[in-house]
Amino acid sequence: MNRILIKNIKSLVQVSDNPLLRKRSGIEMNDLPVLNEAWLAIEDGLISGYGLMQDWEGITDWNNLEVIDASGKFVFPCWCDSHTHIVYAGSREAEFVYKIKGMSYEEIAKQGGGILNSAKKLADASEDELYESAKNRVWEMIGFGTGAIEIKSGYGLSVASELKMLRVIKRLKETLPVEIKATFLGAHSLPTAFKQNREGYIKLIVDEMLPQIAAEGLADFVDVFCDKGFFTVEETDTILKAASAFGLSPKIHANELDYSGGIQVGVKHKALSVDHLEYTGDEEIETLLNSDTMPTLLPSTAFFLRLVPPPARKMIDAGLPIALATDFNPGSSPSGNFPFVISLACITLKMLPNEAINAATLNSAYAMGVENMLGTIAAGKQANVFITNEIPSIEFLPYSFGSNLIEKVILKGKLVLDREV
Ligand code: NIG
Ligand code: FE
Repeated sequence: MNRILIKNIKSLVQVSDNPLLRKRSGIEMNDLPVLNEAWLAIEDGLISGYGLMQDWEGITDWNNLEVIDASGKFVFPCWCDSHTHIVYAGSREAEFVYKIKGMSYEEIAKQGGGILNSAKKLADASEDELYESAKNRVWEMIGFGTGAIEIKSGYGLSVASELKMLRVIKRLKETLPVEIKATFLGAHSLPTAFKQNREGYIKLIVDEMLPQIAAEGLADFVDVFCDKGFFTVEETDTILKAASAFGLSPKIHANELDYSGGIQVGVKHKALSVDHLEYTGDEEIETLLNSDTMPTLLPSTAFFLRLVPPPARKMIDAGLPIALATDFNPGSSPSGNFPFVISLACITLKMLPNEAINAATLNSAYAMGVENMLGTIAAGKQANVFITNEIPSIEFLPYSFGSNLIEKVILKGKLVLDREV
């Protein structure tokens, strides 16, 4: 039995007495419950208790106990990164330069750059190579305080390569201490071989990819890039319908490049989340208000691609919840730095620090279906927490953009990273 006690915590952030708490929406997004001068106990990978130092009864059982003094430091539940594409081969910095020179994301994609460029590189990579590079990215993300990651396929675009990507994700799940969820994104881009045969590719997804993926239990969710120049609402509808027969709920890419109808088709299929949402108008907000779907914003993508940012303020003020994620991928967000995403949410989307932290913990846990085990500090939840350096306030975290203020990371009850030693 492995036990950790963290004592003298300056502030224990996002405490919740109700471990099944769902999500925070609208004005509640600014409610961030904290306990000042607190302790937190961890046993067998789970949070076993917490409270105020003044009520603490001291240690009675020293057996297998590690004590951490967190004087002056904050403890948070780890970030839940509910949208990433971290299994990929190579990198795409040449496109980064094309963009600086004025080409758009869509123009680059039309010329065989973009997702198809990554698909070509991935086809030549072995499972071992993909596993090693993705594993390094996961450890980098852990170093930024991330404790749960959703990972998508979608650089395969053929039966063999999509399966290869999903098997790599399965191996990451089995070997790493973070919580991982897998999403099948066969409809990320139309592969070159099907350029003149869109229907053929949709058929391949529905008749071959989905059944094989389901038979091997390789995916938790299904995704479609429902946007201008990628997949239509009708194609999305077909794929989501087929996926639901295999028990896969949708988390979809929507409204990044236009008012694509992606939000509406996602909500129609009870998507767990709809992500990107740069093009969100009154109609889309209304649709989301009448749903359980989590609107997920990816501010580092909008920043990297110089897109007009999504209307986060308007969405929150209308009563919606928001989740945040990094979208870590080689084309539109080559970074898994979650604290930077939180800073960007405050700076470019005008989210308040408390709103951004709710969006990065409880709400993003919901967006990847792990809200009953992660996203808040609650007895019985998985002990994925991080301890900061000595900092003056919660707001200091997003304010110090670009700095890494995380000193220790505990995942499933084990100290996996310690910058103090
Ligand atoms: O989420 N928008 C679509 N897909 C990815 C980009 C993938 C790529 O460019 O490789 C995204 O931004
Ligand atoms: Fe994405």
